[in-house]
Amino acid sequence: MLKIEREVILAPMAGYTHSAFRRLARELGADRTYSELMNATGIIHRGDERELSYFTDLERPIHLQVYGRNPEEVAQASEILVKKYRPDAIDINFGCSVKKVLKAKAAGYLLQFPKEMGRIVEETVKALKPYKVLVTAKIRLGFYEDNLEEIAENLLSAGVSAIALHGRTAKQGFSGKANWDRVRDLKEMAGKVPVIGSGDVRDWKEVDVKFEETGCDGIMIGRAAVSNPWIFKEYREKRDIEVKLPERVDFILRELSMMWEFFERERACKVIKAHITQLFKGIRGKAKLNDSVMRSKSCDELISNLLRIKEEFSP
Ligand SMILES: Cc1cc2nc3c(=O)[nH]c(=O)nc-3n(C[C@H](O)[C@H](O)[C@H](O)COP(=O)(O)O)c2cc1C
Repeated sequence: MLKIEREVILAPMAGYTHSAFRRLARELGADRTYSELMNATGIIHRGDERELSYFTDLERPIHLQVYGRNPEEVAQASEILVKKYRPDAIDINFGCSVKKVLKAKAAGYLLQFPKEMGRIVEETVKALKPYKVLVTAKIRLGFYEDNLEEIAENLLSAGVSAIALHGRTAKQGFSGKANWDRVRDLKEMAGKVPVIGSGDVRDWKEVDVKFEETGCDGIMIGRAAVSNPWIFKEYREKRDIEVKLPERVDFILRELSMMWEFFERERACKVIKAHITQLFKGIRGKAKLNDSVMRSKSCDELISNLLRIKEEFSP
């Protein structure tokens, strides 16, 4: 059984939660990290996962996240990841519902087929047993409708070691509000199996409230951590922390230098732009700042623009 006790966890987010950001989040107080989702077929046939599966010991405990269409494929891809990288756990994504994934009839698509979800977990648990690596799952409430009871039943009897629940249906996308009452219901169903709640945690003060209200074992923070990675430190120190622009620029430069370990130099500079926009949220004059970042055509230009911004905003 996986031991998770009142952990605050960086949620997996494609495009953001690569090794560099995970390391920085751990440093700021996140207890556990997940990789972004990786396609099982790509792992098996093309070794596609190289950039996305890269991690260092500083990110542990880390779950590498896989999605795929059928049990054999997910089990095989998971075994490849475990042999190559030795993560602390394999997480199976049953939540993502972007077009590409739905077309592949995988991930969130499978919320419509709880029995198939169970078979995928069962097969993967079996494949990873010799390596003593556990299997977790990240789910939503259902696809069109809330189908949580049937989903939970199938995952639990298949031997899942923890379940993370984003309290919306796939059809909802990110609209409406995440339903944390269902996180509490899932915890009741899961018994000793750890349950992690996810969705709409924006402020460190909400974390303890959600632990108390639901009895869950972990809480994931996603979007709020992208624009404010210091939220983990705020929770640890139980105080609001205001992070000014120069410190934000230093964060970006550190993130970028770590990204060069696993991304080609110019690609890293393209990828980080989305994160920079998020980190500049709420800063006065952000439109102008974003403009100069987005217009940068190379790493050299991006870095010199960031340094100029830092200089301009330094006291
Ligand atoms: C840009 C983005 C990418 C995401 N990618 C993943 C992913 O790769 N795997 C996954 O399980 N969830 C993914 N999610 C869902 C988050 O992990 C999380 O459950 C969801 O955003 C709700 O939490 P939040 O309100 O704290 O952001 C993603 C969310 C966002 C916004």
